[in-house]
Amino acid sequence: MSLEAEVRRLKEERNALLLAHNYQRPEVQDISDYVGDSLYLSRTAMEADRPVILFAGVRFMAETAKILNPTKTVLLPDLKAGCALSDSITADQLRSWKSEHPGAAVVAYVNTSAEVKAESDYCCTSSNAIRVVNSIPADQEILFLPDMFLGDYVRRQTGRKMHVWVGDCPVHAKMRPEDLARARSEHPRATVLAHPECGCSTQALPHVDQVLSTDGMVRFAKETHDPEVLVATEVGILHRMRQINPTTQFLPIDAGTICPYMKEIDLGDIRDSLRDMRHVIDVPPNVAARARRALERMVAS
Ligand code: 13P
Ligand code: SF4
Repeated sequence: MSLEAEVRRLKEERNALLLAHNYQRPEVQDISDYVGDSLYLSRTAMEADRPVILFAGVRFMAETAKILNPTKTVLLPDLKAGCALSDSITADQLRSWKSEHPGAAVVAYVNTSAEVKAESDYCCTSSNAIRVVNSIPADQEILFLPDMFLGDYVRRQTGRKMHVWVGDCPVHAKMRPEDLARARSEHPRATVLAHPECGCSTQALPHVDQVLSTDGMVRFAKETHDPEVLVATEVGILHRMRQINPTTQFLPIDAGTICPYMKEIDLGDIRDSLRDMRHVIDVPPNVAARARRALERMVAS
């Protein structure tokens, strides 16, 4: 039996829902029930009615699924699937930052641990960060964490005074304005899309046509008639964009933009995970209860 057939059989047997992030390996995306960005997958996990949710993504995504749908068994096929950005702030660091700004609203990007979310008032993703910040009373101070590039972008778009944590995603941060300028001059007809985590997202705005979350890029791919589109984010997204729109040429700004965490999971890990029911992701109930409030605001926004 092929590996794909084994996964399909076990998925039926376990009555499991397979969710995959847009950066996952093509074969993992193709075998999943739903593929999307962090916001879409959080909402889908929250509404899931099957007893098992297998998350082909990274740990904070599986934790989010567990917090939003606590009666389900949530599986992460490989525990090495972490996130460097989420590791850039701990709950202790956040508590001490909050003590310097009493009364401030804390907005945490979903790329954070459950413990950090439990210390936060709001969660957001790249697709609703502006809406979430705009929903906070105008006179309230804001602490935004942990991505400084997304934070800087949101600060400019909303005009809000925000304190922004100095964290970044190493995969996106290495993309510089000069990389975009070079790609633009080599492909003068191309439309340029960039994820707001990119190191170039603010300084390189003149070279970028649209700043979008990964699902924003997929929606763009569905609608565009542009001959060429340059994409500044993890290259896994190109699989979906090319599937959806085979007539446009989708090219990476840098083919080396690969998230090692997102690539940890392969079909063999998914097969083993469903067969052995591992690795079950649990969140301590006291942490989950506090994190849920911030996450519910995120999915509602
Ligand atoms: P999206 O929410 O845009 O999918 O981004 C998640 C992520 O990890 C980006 O690096
Ligand atoms: Fe984390 Fe960056 Fe990988 Fe996204 S691309 S999961 S932010 S390390």
